[in-house]
Amino acid sequence: MPQPPQFPRPRRGAPPPPPPLLHIQAPARRPPTRSKTPLVLAAGVAAYGLSLYAAYLYTTLKDLPPAPSSPHLQPNNAKVYNALASEYDTSIWFSELTMGLPLLRRALARRAHGHVLEASVGTGRNAAYYDMGKCASVTIVDSSREMLAVAQAAFAARRSGATTTRVRCVHMDAAAPLPPPPASVEGKYDVVIQSMGICSHQDPVALLRNLARCVKSGGEGGRIILLEHGRSRFDWVNGVLDRLAWGHARRWGCWWNRDVGELVERSGLRVLEVKRYHFGTTWWIVAVPPD
Ligand SMILES: C[S@@+](CC[C@H](N)C(=O)[O-])C[C@H]1O[C@@H](n2cnc3c(N)ncnc32)[C@H](O)[C@@H]1O
Repeated sequence: MPQPPQFPRPRRGAPPPPPPLLHIQAPARRPPTRSKTPLVLAAGVAAYGLSLYAAYLYTTLKDLPPAPSSPHLQPNNAKVYNALASEYDTSIWFSELTMGLPLLRRALARRAHGHVLEASVGTGRNAAYYDMGKCASVTIVDSSREMLAVAQAAFAARRSGATTTRVRCVHMDAAAPLPPPPASVEGKYDVVIQSMGICSHQDPVALLRNLARCVKSGGEGGRIILLEHGRSRFDWVNGVLDRLAWGHARRWGCWWNRDVGELVERSGLRVLEVKRYHFGTTWWIVAVPPD
């Protein structure tokens, strides 16, 4: 009978023999493969959502009657501003920020110097950007008492101990004869500024002619600087503006489908500079009174 193999017995007190070496080879590492499925699914959901939204917009818009773009055919909704005054700033600041409007407002207000008139001042959204040190006086005008009260507070917040600028609030129709600047020899303003005013006035051409009458003219003349919004360069944008104009004007008192360029031209102002932003709907205009 064969004998089982005999292993040498460890001697008493001797260390145990080392375990036999095992060579286990680690599997080769492969970079983890990322599944593209969630990405494709998300893109599909987004495309589906967008197409639903576009279809919704199209069906809603096509049934809306386009509004006229001429101010004489548009009802005056400026009375809504009294009720809007308390929520105006909180309602529009974010959309203005995303459009970069604070930069344009800054550029506008930074041009103010000497005796300044700001027409249709609203809640004074440009107040924060004035360099008061350059202004001898600032006259702010609006036909909404509530909007003007908010603007007055915004300008009062700009008062520092050092400034001697006189800020005067005038509640009136900016298309009616305007008061001359306080304590000025010439009786005319150095700079007239207005932002988003043409859209809300009943007769913007009369307003612009009135602004031209109260600003200095001649060689070293004054400037009228406008930051306005209205019709686009693109027909498809104008189609959307026209159809949504009724609802927008009821809510915000402003007609966003007016042709700003045409209204300025009809006013007779001599335009020195025009820039357009946001598909041509935002207008930056520097002008002087007609010769
Ligand atoms: C769209 S808001 C713009 C306010 C402000 N300028 C801004 O940039 O936010 C238009 C403003 O024009 C004022 N407004 C409308 N018609 C006016 C008129 N005939 N005379 C003076 N202000 C008028 C309204 O009361 C309102 O405050």
